[in-house]
Amino acid sequence: MWNVSQIKKEFPVFEKYPSLVFLDNASTTQKPRAVLKAMTDFYENDNANVNRGVYAMAERADAAYESARRSCAEFVGAEVDEIVFVKNATEAANLVASSFGEKVVGSDDGASPDNIVVTELEHHSNFLPWQELASRKGADLRIMRVDLKTGNLVDGSLKLIDEKTKIVAVTMMSNVLGVMPDISGIVEAAHAVGAKVVCDAAQSAAHERLDMKKLDVDFAFVTGHKIFGPMGIGFLYGKKELLEKMPPIMTGGGMIKDLPDTWLDSPSRFEAGTPNVAGAVGLMAAIEFIRNVPKGWNVHEDKLAKIAKDKLSGLEKVHVFPCENSIVSFSIEGVHPHDIASILADNDICVRAGHHCAKPLMKALGVNATVRASFSIYNTEEDVDKLISAVKEVLNTFE
Ligand code: ALA
Repeated sequence: MWNVSQIKKEFPVFEKYPSLVFLDNASTTQKPRAVLKAMTDFYENDNANVNRGVYAMAERADAAYESARRSCAEFVGAEVDEIVFVKNATEAANLVASSFGEKVVGSDDGASPDNIVVTELEHHSNFLPWQELASRKGADLRIMRVDLKTGNLVDGSLKLIDEKTKIVAVTMMSNVLGVMPDISGIVEAAHAVGAKVVCDAAQSAAHERLDMKKLDVDFAFVTGHKIFGPMGIGFLYGKKELLEKMPPIMTGGGMIKDLPDTWLDSPSRFEAGTPNVAGAVGLMAAIEFIRNVPKGWNVHEDKLAKIAKDKLSGLEKVHVFPCENSIVSFSIEGVHPHDIASILADNDICVRAGHHCAKPLMKALGVNATVRASFSIYNTEEDVDKLISAVKEVLNTFE
């Protein structure tokens, strides 16, 4: 049975700020006590560099770091050596673009150029690395468009994938609209022409259980801070046979077998320098926390978002964009989204207003910015009511 007040008690921030209505969860989630404790415990008891020491504390640090990797692998249905720790989703996408992408994209036969297919739904982290790669390699960047009625990709988008497609980069869940493209259809079309699929799972990991083997995507990335873990840690999943053939993009400590350039196997090859071990330990605690949350957590978030969406749609001058799942993006006629967010902030309501690092989508929607309310497991119906009252205050203020 879902018990939101019990869940909420796990998050110290709500004890400290009881009136806080945190609706900026697509940006980052709050942290449960278990995550904070795991990180403090690590620094108090096991703090040593990894893969370098033979003393007991170093061995404990090594074990913690590799347990965290195992936990991430289990979380997404992957093998342990298919998980590369990174600092965030942006770093993961750049790693794939600069390593794998550099190798496979190019006008190799001198005829028509290769292409990379992306979507209008992408966060800049899964758009700009591909735009830049295409520009470096003289490849075409093809963009799957958004259906303005549904917010999802237009029918027929798969036609953009052809024999010259090398990479298809797609989000599993839009950070602005919450819509979830049909990944299996994209994977099938891409694999039919030998292209690889790179998925941004930053939002979807917070929303549903992922299984990389079942999805059969080639690469996907998750960031810790959106799934109740710390900032500065995330991971890239990559099929083993692909990671094994990829060169590192960063060289330095802890990634070499021998000079001049005999690299360690993946994933160490991609983790040059001292890694964020405490972050990895915190992420492992976050994954454990998620596992213990009663089933139906996304049902709860989606239900709240749907109530908010319906109530907002009923207000004059409020425009709700075509959203799904736990995210609601809206605007108010004649009021800048930043002004809306400021009035909400005066009511202790945290939302994000702006372009959400998704300018291609803003362009498609014909706006510069939206206000986004995004729900998580600790939100309540009372939070929705407070949001609606504050939006009414905005309407009165700008009458
Ligand atoms: N990607 C985060 C967001 O959507 C920061 O707000």
